[in-house]
Amino acid sequence: MIVTIDGPAGAGKSTVARKLAAKLGFDFLDTGAMYRCVALSGSRQNVDWEDEAALGEIARSLPLEFDGARVLLGGEDVSAAIRTPEVTAIIHYAADNLMVREAMVDLQRKLAAEDNVVTEGRDQGTVAFPQAECKFFLSASAEERARRRVEQLRQNGKQASLEEVLEQQTVRDEQDEAREVGGLKAAEDALYVITDGMKPFEVVEHLERLVRIRM
Ligand code: DC
Repeated sequence: MIVTIDGPAGAGKSTVARKLAAKLGFDFLDTGAMYRCVALSGSRQNVDWEDEAALGEIARSLPLEFDGARVLLGGEDVSAAIRTPEVTAIIHYAADNLMVREAMVDLQRKLAAEDNVVTEGRDQGTVAFPQAECKFFLSASAEERARRRVEQLRQNGKQASLEEVLEQQTVRDEQDEAREVGGLKAAEDALYVITDGMKPFEVVEHLERLVRIRM
């Protein structure tokens, strides 16, 4: 069975998807981490960002492995390195590149063919797995998403103002929605879940109930 969870940045998708997968005994596919690995590899190899084919080639031969919650690139644990603001700032080169997207979708389908999965991203229910049995579109108001991000940063010892985070988030939302290929869009048969005022565990329980009905 394939469960897809799409939605904007800051909707809490990763946390919820990871916990939902654990509860269901499914594998978890973090597709944002895949695009982040392409961007990190490009940066490390000093790729010319305007050279779409070169980045596409990096994506096609990406030595990526998932080991539980760890992301490995050529055996190196890059779980933290892919989530730095530097990588977030260049991620659009990977996410907007058609060759990269095709390579990532191929990889996602290959990984999902082996087991039941919960997969999380922007285009999972629309492009990667249009046949998925259970699709969710997870969202929350812009203010709630920004508040959560500020709190997450604070827990990691970083200070950021709500205005600053809201501004960056708006830019990212626009980039995610405007993407010509794989842009953020809910699948027609996706169930919308608005998580304002809900704790992560409540969202997980809600989704689990809905998945079990479909099962
Ligand atoms: O979810 P995240 O922040 O780790 O995602 C990183 C970036 O990758 C984000 O800007 C959107 C992009 N992305 C995408 O285009 N398609 C996906 N399936 C997952 C992420």
